[in-house]
Amino acid sequence: MSLQGKRILLVIGGGIAAYKCLDLIRRLRERGARVRVVMTRAAQEFVTPLSVSALAGERAHNDLFDPASEFDVGHIRLARETDLVVVAPATADLMAKMAQGVANDLATTVLLATDKKILLAPAMNPQMWAHPATRRNHARLISDGCLFVGPNAGEMAEAGEAGLGRMAEPLEIAAAIEDALSAEPERTALQGRRLLVTSGPTLEPIDPVRFLSNRSSGRQGHAVAYAAARAGADVILVSGPVAISDPIGVRTTHVETAREMLTAAEAALPVDAAVCVAAVADWRADHQASEKLKKQKGKPPALALVENPDVLARIAHHARRPKLVVGFAAETENLIENAREKLARKGCDWIVANDVSAETGVLGGLANQIHLVTRKGVEAWPLQSKEVVAGVLVKRIADALKAGVNA
Ligand code: CTP
Repeated sequence: MSLQGKRILLVIGGGIAAYKCLDLIRRLRERGARVRVVMTRAAQEFVTPLSVSALAGERAHNDLFDPASEFDVGHIRLARETDLVVVAPATADLMAKMAQGVANDLATTVLLATDKKILLAPAMNPQMWAHPATRRNHARLISDGCLFVGPNAGEMAEAGEAGLGRMAEPLEIAAAIEDALSAEPERTALQGRRLLVTSGPTLEPIDPVRFLSNRSSGRQGHAVAYAAARAGADVILVSGPVAISDPIGVRTTHVETAREMLTAAEAALPVDAAVCVAAVADWRADHQASEKLKKQKGKPPALALVENPDVLARIAHHARRPKLVVGFAAETENLIENAREKLARKGCDWIVANDVSAETGVLGGLANQIHLVTRKGVEAWPLQSKEVVAGVLVKRIADALKAGVNA
């Protein structure tokens, strides 16, 4: 599932949580959405229109009486030419104005003029959230058909304040947006299914301070796990050490080595489908020194390596083999040929082949150029973000499981 082609109008209110909107815009664009932004005057005290515009890829709209803005878009078009309106942070003030139908600036005018669903991510001091006036406004907005995500409990920006009032995290808001926009069949495409996903690199110790590893970020694997969970699956993600957070709605097991990854992956069986995205280190040190290896003059230590277990191949040949086993392969040459050979050698059903040759700009980038290699043939997918690739792949998995085919 993704937000490919969806239009989001983001209304940024004036609260300290406005800084999280910069990340939210990035997350929405990664998922393929077009984001237009309206900022209240107070919002501009917290984040600059310049940074918001740079991330959104188009100018932020701030003023109801800005002739340039009214000329090129206009508040009615802003309100209507969108699939969803998101208010984040939804301050106590914005909620009160919306509940009353006040329209005295661009943000509130657009909120009153829209004919689309509105999703609010409230953020305020816990006392303000608990105040009877805010309780009334919240109830009124719900009965008016507004959707809400958060607020969460936790530490507030003000020192020593804690309680309900923290704005939901950008990933939670993105998930709520996907829910609000997705059709029922998309939300339930993998309902009742169990999926195993491996992600990230593995880390193979040499001694207590040194290790062998690789540069995998885990972004693609985590995106697949997240997309599967959004489609209703029970997802077990086995992740090597990564710098990104655990996807929401997914059970994540953290491992370091290939052998730990294999144990955790096998423990997750039985599953309906396994998607092995992890960049498992092919080798580990034959002997892990219990003490730090010391330099010896003119004699660098010889590092003897042994091969690691192949998680994908083991799952594909397991007594409790999932109905569908999917591998990934990053190749710099002979993409299809190598992918076909890997599919046969590892015994999996599909290989998601990733062209990482220098000219694609994929390596270290946000997008992936995919060929889906099955036993039947090869499909070329357009260059798209890792989140979109995840959404498309999850849809294919859902269709295959439903049809009972794995070719
Ligand atoms: N894989 C795995 N365990 C390993 C090695 C690879 O589960 N020890 C999985 C990866 O998660 C991926 C697929 O196998 O889904 C292909 O990984 P890749 O590194 O391309 O395959 P290798 O067998 O290592 O082949 P190469 O000779 O190209 O390195």
